[in-house]
Amino acid sequence: MNDASAGAVLVAGSANLDYVVRAGHIPAPGETVLGRDFATHPGGKGANQAVAAARAGGVPTRLLAALGRDPAAAVLEASLRGAGVALTAHRDHGLPTGVAFICVSDAAENAITVAPGANAALRPEHLPPLDGVGHVLLQLETPIETVAAYARAAREAGACVVLNAAPARDVPEALLRLVDVLVVNEGELALLAGDAADLPAAMRRLPVARVVVTLGAAGCVALDRGTLLRQPAFAVPAVDTTGAGDTFCGALVAALARGLALADALREASAASALACTAPGAQTGVPERAQVRALLVAGAAPSSLAGSTA
Ligand code: RIB
Repeated sequence: MNDASAGAVLVAGSANLDYVVRAGHIPAPGETVLGRDFATHPGGKGANQAVAAARAGGVPTRLLAALGRDPAAAVLEASLRGAGVALTAHRDHGLPTGVAFICVSDAAENAITVAPGANAALRPEHLPPLDGVGHVLLQLETPIETVAAYARAAREAGACVVLNAAPARDVPEALLRLVDVLVVNEGELALLAGDAADLPAAMRRLPVARVVVTLGAAGCVALDRGTLLRQPAFAVPAVDTTGAGDTFCGALVAALARGLALADALREASAASALACTAPGAQTGVPERAQVRALLVAGAAPSSLAGSTA
């Protein structure tokens, strides 16, 4: 059920149909691996994050994405509808819905290649009015000029701008300066900050007030206007980590939209992303809000964070 008291979350970004093969291990360059079962799942970082904000985070959520006029789009629409996400879809471009080819290993790790298709057609002029939107969540699977234009419009409208700088790529400093909360993994941080050998130092080098770094099984750290926060991961039996980072982002922004402090939002996001690893598929793995609450109550990770000045 949505928390209607929270300002809406607008996610603007990619939507893909994921073609997933399970295999013993992810192939090395030049290697062919004989995999096992094959499945298609609704995915795409933008759509995954929207499903997470709505289903795991329980806030009113809208998604702006570009879709084709094809059966893959119908799969994505059904998933978004099922999660209660309000979709604004741009379709007048003649391109197919984006697809991702994913190998998931027995160690639950993945390797992903995306053919952007329609995602490449998302343009600045497609942004809907931001009335009632408190948080705008962006990623980097759509053109970076579009991401920058949306961040600028969100900043001008007084919304909180959250950027998940994934997949890893250079981001202009002018765009980073429009961001209120940046979420990255270690590789993405290293690219943006030069290196990430010293995490707090790397986070401090970025021109963003709040930087969150996800560390997989090691949890996450955040620099919150100079204060360092650490959140351990919740221990779960992982079967597929695809979309775990997206679930983290969506749940984090939903928690911030419900007025939680960053430390508490990190704990919720960590619980949601841990649960996302226990089921196959990106959007199919996003947990219900009740499951997140139950894990938080069970308290498999500390309930309070040690804050220190970085
Ligand atoms: O983050 C996982 C997602 O990355 C997948 O769903 C795939 O579509 C790619 O966008």
